[in-house]
Amino acid sequence: MPEVTIDIDVDDIMNTWAHPILDDQNRYLILYGGAGSGKSVAAAQKLVIRMLEEKGHKFLVVRKVANTIRNSVWSLIRGTMADWGVSHLFKINKSDMDITCVNGNQIVFAGLDDVEKLKSIHGITGMWVEEASEVLQEDFQQLDLRLRGFTANYKQIMVSFNPISITHWLKDVFFDKRKPNATVVHTTYLDNMFIDDEYKRTLESLKEQDPYYYMVYALGEWGIVGNTVFNGQKVTDRLSYLRKNPNVVKRGSFVYDYVNERIVDKSIKFVEDDAGYVSIYETPQPKTPYVIGGDTAEGGIDNSVGQVLNNVTGAIAATWKGHTDTDLFAKQMYCLGKYYNRALIAIETNFDLHPVKELQRLRYPRQFKREVFDEISKTTQTKYGFQTTRVTRPVIIAELVAIVRENVELINDIDTLNEMLTFVRNEDGRPEAQEGKHDDTIMALAIAHKARSQQRMTLIEDDEGEYEYSGAFGRTGY
Ligand SMILES: Nc1ncnc2c1ncn2[C@@H]1O[C@H](COP(=O)(O)OP(=O)(O)OP(=O)(O)O)[C@@H](O)[C@H]1O
Ligand SMILES: [Mg+2]
Repeated sequence: MPEVTIDIDVDDIMNTWAHPILDDQNRYLILYGGAGSGKSVAAAQKLVIRMLEEKGHKFLVVRKVANTIRNSVWSLIRGTMADWGVSHLFKINKSDMDITCVNGNQIVFAGLDDVEKLKSIHGITGMWVEEASEVLQEDFQQLDLRLRGFTANYKQIMVSFNPISITHWLKDVFFDKRKPNATVVHTTYLDNMFIDDEYKRTLESLKEQDPYYYMVYALGEWGIVGNTVFNGQKVTDRLSYLRKNPNVVKRGSFVYDYVNERIVDKSIKFVEDDAGYVSIYETPQPKTPYVIGGDTAEGGIDNSVGQVLNNVTGAIAATWKGHTDTDLFAKQMYCLGKYYNRALIAIETNFDLHPVKELQRLRYPRQFKREVFDEISKTTQTKYGFQTTRVTRPVIIAELVAIVRENVELINDIDTLNEMLTFVRNEDGRPEAQEGKHDDTIMALAIAHKARSQQRMTLIEDDEGEYEYSGAFGRTGY
């Protein structure tokens, strides 16, 4: 079969954001975001380049509905070939809708509703699922299974779509679970150098006309459906901002020596690790008081979470989130608290008293206190930890709702913002996470805000020795 070589300058024909996708060999290449960002064009370009440069291919291009193919992916791919002056290298079969290159490579097109045709296609070596938000998860899984076995080149499924709903399976599969073999590329019209001002103005006008469309098609952020408790627009704007201005200073975990049933304070170290449980947005600042709100996992799949707030500004300084046994969670909170200038720690006690007790046993110096009236002895007792009740829960949530509305810039943690978008009012009016979603980061943050009143809110004076900045364990001993 003849070799094909073409000489194209990608700088002229491709958007800058699309250059790296040409070399990307991950199994899943996820192109998502707002309308008109150039996702479909980029996928078509990559496909045509692979058709020309590699050998032994049979690409499958799919959409949900067969009769939408001709006016979209089919004409886009043919247009790309024409633009690059390479149409003569391809044989076009209009009636069956397939394209064969002189080097033997093939592209076949099918709609998921064309079951017979799909069944008849064998030996697929690569795929593009266009407008994947229309596709059911089961159908996608079936497609995924079809790209298996030996192929001469790397096997990749390109997936392009607009993020129409935060509850969509695509969010769960490729974002929440963070597949290691997926490359995720987010783009909006602002990343497309080939669109005109008129198109830009149209998208921007959505801001006034329809906040949902603006969110999904202009900002390219996950659309919110349903009655969210937090202000969705504020949360989405913040997410958008953080995407462009990443704010994680470092990620990692705490390690420590454990001797005679105690944590050795001087041994506590923060070890950087991208997969670590702690995301730090502000390293401990001298003379600054901090508080930590904690929520323990209520079983298997839940996370335990600790939210650290700078108690002068109210901003999230760090978020600890992970799966671990409650005693280890307590030890991690101990380290986090010591790291942040002996922060005041408020941990939820409803599900499990263990972390609070464990912190006491470890002699952690500063825990949130609550007054409990004892019916038998008719006395008021002071206990450690925060208790979420029918009364306290709505109050702390309402306070957090107000913070998001007035000062969303205090929320530095992306996971927390994401949880806020799926935190809704159920049929009984009770605010809770949508089915299959979590609210641990929200509850931990609400508790942290509640705890602020038991910690000072101004910088620590020099003569207040006990609060002295530890320089992350450098200077003062405990
Ligand atoms: N590399 C390119 N060269 C020339 N024009 C381009 C290029 N990329 C994008 N465009 C122009 O931008 C328009 C929008 O691109 P495209 O259709 O790929 O966007 P999209 O991200 O797939 O949008 P949607 O989310 O609406 O499907 C195209 O119709 C085309 O006019
Ligand atoms: Mg498109």
